[in-house]
Amino acid sequence: MSKPTIKIFQDLTSLHDEAVSLIVSLAKTAIQKRGKFLMALAGGGTPKPIFRLLSQPPRTHQIDWQHVLLFWGDERFVAPKHEESNYGLAQELLLRHIPIPKQNIYRMKGEVDMVSAVADYTYKLAQVSEFGRTWPRLDLAIMGMGNDGHTASLFAGKIGSEELLRPVMAVNGADYDSKPSQRLTLTPLVFNDARHVLFLATGTKKAETVTAVFNPNTSPANYPAKRIQPHNGSLSWFLDQGAASNLVAVQK
Ligand code: 6PG
Repeated sequence: MSKPTIKIFQDLTSLHDEAVSLIVSLAKTAIQKRGKFLMALAGGGTPKPIFRLLSQPPRTHQIDWQHVLLFWGDERFVAPKHEESNYGLAQELLLRHIPIPKQNIYRMKGEVDMVSAVADYTYKLAQVSEFGRTWPRLDLAIMGMGNDGHTASLFAGKIGSEELLRPVMAVNGADYDSKPSQRLTLTPLVFNDARHVLFLATGTKKAETVTAVFNPNTSPANYPAKRIQPHNGSLSWFLDQGAASNLVAVQK
């Protein structure tokens, strides 16, 4: 388990630019080595500028989209066109602008019941699974973090057996920022198997939680972002000044 690389940026423009450079670089390497690049997208607002940069020149031409497979870290149980849909957000800002084959888009079905959605995504992951697992090894998982320390739709509380044993699970009763309370989420089984995890956290509202996540004495039960520790991959945290404002000594 490698130590996280923490990068603090003077401004959001440089943070977003470096995040996209990392995505482009990881995509090139993965496609050169294995013929494909598997990336899971985060929902919420933080990734929006990243999607926009990836959707337009020059960056959009730096990725061979034909060989990219897209997944989601989580989804809300809403229809794809609903304003709170993570897929809908990515479709608006990125997917409709890039030549990615439809069959390469592994959408979580927020419009069906929970049991069907879990079964559907479990099946989808199994279709591209490898190494004897029932899920694919992601080349990159882009992750956000809520002010409460949640990530994807892994929320504070006792870590249940489903989260430990299943690659995808439904979450009922998520209470955050008046967002939809019913969610579908990948679990740490998938995230921690990724070759690279990139956390993006910005804004002073996240400063206290960022500090708590990096505090060795806090619990992953209380701070779900701590549950994401790739066991054979690298972990980067990209922070702006606001999100890092509580950190005392940080790596550059
Ligand atoms: C979601 C996201 C969630 C998000 C955090 C941070 O579906 O809401 O996947 O985990 O990353 O809530 O959201 P912001 O980026 O909007 O702060």
